[in-house]
Amino acid sequence: MNSKAIITSALPYANGEIHLGHVASTYLPADVTTRFLKLNGVEAYYVCASDDFGTPILIQSEKENKTPSEYVAYWNKRDYDDFTAFNIGFDYFYKTSSQENIEFVQYVFKKLNDAGHLYQKEIIQFYCNNDKKFLPDRYVKGICPYCQAEDQYSDLCESCGRVPEEIKDPKCSICGQTPTKEKTIHYFFKLKNFGDSLTKWLEGNEHLQKDVKKYVQNWIKSGLIDWDITRDITWGVPIPADDAQDKVFYGWFDNHLAYISTALKFLNDKGIDGKDFWNSADIYHFIGKDIVYHHYLFLPAMRLGMNNEYKLPDYIPTRGHLTLQGKKISKSRNWYIGLKQFLNYYPADYLRYYLVVINPYSQDDLNFDWDEFANHINSELIGNLGNFVNRALGFTKKTFDGIIPESEKYDEKDQEAHDKIINLSTEIGILMKENHLDRALKKIMEFSSFFNQYFQHKEPWKKGPGTENCVFLSVNAARSLAIAMFPFIPESSQKIWVQLGLEGKVTDNSWDDMSQLGIKLGHSLGETSPLFAKVEQEDIEKYKKRLGPQ
Ligand code: 2FM
Ligand code: ZN
Repeated sequence: MNSKAIITSALPYANGEIHLGHVASTYLPADVTTRFLKLNGVEAYYVCASDDFGTPILIQSEKENKTPSEYVAYWNKRDYDDFTAFNIGFDYFYKTSSQENIEFVQYVFKKLNDAGHLYQKEIIQFYCNNDKKFLPDRYVKGICPYCQAEDQYSDLCESCGRVPEEIKDPKCSICGQTPTKEKTIHYFFKLKNFGDSLTKWLEGNEHLQKDVKKYVQNWIKSGLIDWDITRDITWGVPIPADDAQDKVFYGWFDNHLAYISTALKFLNDKGIDGKDFWNSADIYHFIGKDIVYHHYLFLPAMRLGMNNEYKLPDYIPTRGHLTLQGKKISKSRNWYIGLKQFLNYYPADYLRYYLVVINPYSQDDLNFDWDEFANHINSELIGNLGNFVNRALGFTKKTFDGIIPESEKYDEKDQEAHDKIINLSTEIGILMKENHLDRALKKIMEFSSFFNQYFQHKEPWKKGPGTENCVFLSVNAARSLAIAMFPFIPESSQKIWVQLGLEGKVTDNSWDDMSQLGIKLGHSLGETSPLFAKVEQEDIEKYKKRLGPQ
């Protein structure tokens, strides 16, 4: 394992609240991974930023009669607050509109230009005579020329995931009129020239998911097209060229550069050489499958075009989309659950647990279902984990005054339990390193379930021989669970830690400490209480009714 890591997740547009769909595919897996790496002693930093530029934000701020700056400042803060309430532990949360990012983007532009990777070309752009505006990207909707999906924005087809060269049957998305075409001069990035170097990079990186790689390799084979990186709008990073004063960079030219500029700002402020750190760390970009094109083509090609001045990603963990009660999430149809709203219903750990357990390391979509949520929480978090911890600690309190007794010679079952503890960190660690967070979590729950059965089998309440061993090993297993579960449910893990009467924080330990028998003879437990409260059917019925037209 590299001793350094920088973790990023797709930057949220500063354009509306964070909902369950956002956190499931990117922020939560990235946070769990960062916590895991930190426990392993990796100097890991999770940096993120609001994605402030782009046409949708300009359109929305115009609708709300706000300046774009006021508009994005509101969402930057709100997003950060919501993430924090969900225990997404960013080391730093910044913004793509920061001075640092603007300067970095302009630097990258000059570098790419000097290296001959850019050129200017006159193009024909949609223009709305009614709104008196050029209409880039989301300002135009139409039919995807590749898959014929209707009602797609001109910059990304949500149906096939490709970036259309020219959308069919275009309509202005402000007024609905058919736009005319006007001439304008734009900068282009020679993406076409990067086919071979991208293929080489894809082939040489064994950490990228095989199915995603294949998908991207097919795009490359079918021919890349040069990429228009400027826009005729007023909100964006200014182009440092005299002949482009009335234009800005396309949002997808600047946003991913904020991964780097934000990391540099954070690290340099800490007195660490940011560039050096970036280039010697493992780089993770967590994304949802809708932005594969940007992260597997544009982003690496730009870094290759800068001669790897900033290294390419090692990992781009890509996950599917969340549906809600089997249907596509849609804000306009009120078919979504805001993160803030959810956290008014249940603690963060319930959602963290559920969204990891149903979330494989693949591009398959996953589904939030209220009944399944209740089942997972009630039978697993409460029936398995909560029950075991409460039973083991409660029994020790009642029978031994909360003082850990001396263990005796192990019988076969004790030895098996002992070995489970010893092997836990390696078994789970392998899965975590491979990004199989869901499988790792299930294995930890199997460990808990084993100890429930062990406790039942030993019948310590009969106070026969072996009672002391049962108490000693069960209390130690609870300690192991506190450490193992920390990346997933940090608040509850810390609660277990306190109930065990252990000092400090779970994070004072290393990942491997879960496989030590750290609680010794004579140790005194803390106060115990139930860790979780049942998810009631009548509550979830109420929450279900809040979805859809009201
Ligand atoms: O698709 C999105 O939500 C974009 N805001 C993601 C940007 S990630 C980038 F910065 F690379
Ligand atoms: Zn399409």
